[in-house]
Amino acid sequence: MKEGIVYLDSGATSLKPVRVIRAMLEYYEEYPANVHRGGYPWANRATEEYERVREKVAGLIGARPEEVIFTKNATEALNLASAILEPYVKEGDRILVSVMEHHANFLPWMRLARRKGAEFVLFGITPEGYLDFDDFRKKLTPNTKVVALTMASNVVGTVPPFTEVAKMSRRVGAYVVLDGAQYLGHRKVRVRETGAHLIGFSGHKIFGPMGTGILWGREELLREGNPLLMGGSMIKDVGFNDYDLEDTPQRYEAGTPDVGGVIGLGAAVDFISDVGYDRLEAHERRLTAYLYEALRDLTGVEVYGPPPEDRTSLVAFNLRGLHPHDLAWYLGELGIMVRSGGHCAHPLHKFLKVPNNQSVRASLSIFNTEEDVDRLIDGIVRAKEAFRLD
Ligand SMILES: Cc1ncc(COP(=O)(O)O)c(C=O)c1O
Repeated sequence: MKEGIVYLDSGATSLKPVRVIRAMLEYYEEYPANVHRGGYPWANRATEEYERVREKVAGLIGARPEEVIFTKNATEALNLASAILEPYVKEGDRILVSVMEHHANFLPWMRLARRKGAEFVLFGITPEGYLDFDDFRKKLTPNTKVVALTMASNVVGTVPPFTEVAKMSRRVGAYVVLDGAQYLGHRKVRVRETGAHLIGFSGHKIFGPMGTGILWGREELLREGNPLLMGGSMIKDVGFNDYDLEDTPQRYEAGTPDVGGVIGLGAAVDFISDVGYDRLEAHERRLTAYLYEALRDLTGVEVYGPPPEDRTSLVAFNLRGLHPHDLAWYLGELGIMVRSGGHCAHPLHKFLKVPNNQSVRASLSIFNTEEDVDRLIDGIVRAKEAFRLD
């Protein structure tokens, strides 16, 4: 990375370790063939490496390789989850979604509810950003067929009690879909222990390349599921008027996948394993607390969401009197990269009545330091002076 830059947008996408870039380069230089097609040496190696990454990802999350589907991002993974559950939802059923979802775990369910004539019902959060359990409990009716919940909010950082939510949801026979996009790069996940049926992850937020994502699902469910795409490499046989789909995971990976990307993702998994979740989490917890307290100490700054011990490593805030885009632009001029806007979570901003429905977000990762946070705080102080705010 260029000297002097402070990257505080790992929530959007993480920086990529050199080994990830090298793994991709090696693929493109040494065996740049398609997978699951040819029988020549490059094609065999590409297929072997690609499938080895599936095993690595499965190991990382405590799954079986057949339960790991490669997608291009978490959005595609969650859309695929809704396609898989579509046949189980009928008119009059309820789809229950938290108000703090990213649009990727919100819109597919809203659309599915509309298509099927099902109810789309939101459950809320408290003003502090915690999941409103009473509201959830009240709305979890016997006709609830799907419950969709994030494992960590991309705005307020909240880690809701997703295992408890999954347990209660299963009791009424609902399918549980979790969004792990903001979680897996920061905390260890054992997918089966969550109680969920399907979980979407971004590969590019866990140090992997752009264009990589993962859907994990229970094999029982994936065996019969509807793919999102139809085409090559996902079919056992095609007749003039019928077809026979492949088993999971192939049935969900139609067409040429991002082979280089997946191979890079494998190196990202190695990176996480080498660093270790304990170290990752400890470092980020310490730094998030430092960031949160420093922001809270600044007059004119409003921080959204719970205290650091109950969140992952990001903090959204606003500076009174300055539009978030103006603050992010000003910080950018100082070499400090933060994100501003609605963060694809418009309902949450509206629910919390955040001014302009937008905020600035600083998100941290393993490579960030206290000096990075100091630079951000200093940048905000300078912005207050430059824009003559009190
Ligand atoms: C909580 C959450 N879910 C889903 C997504 C979508 O992820 P992707 O960009 O990989 O589609 C994001 C991306 O920011 C996110 O923060």
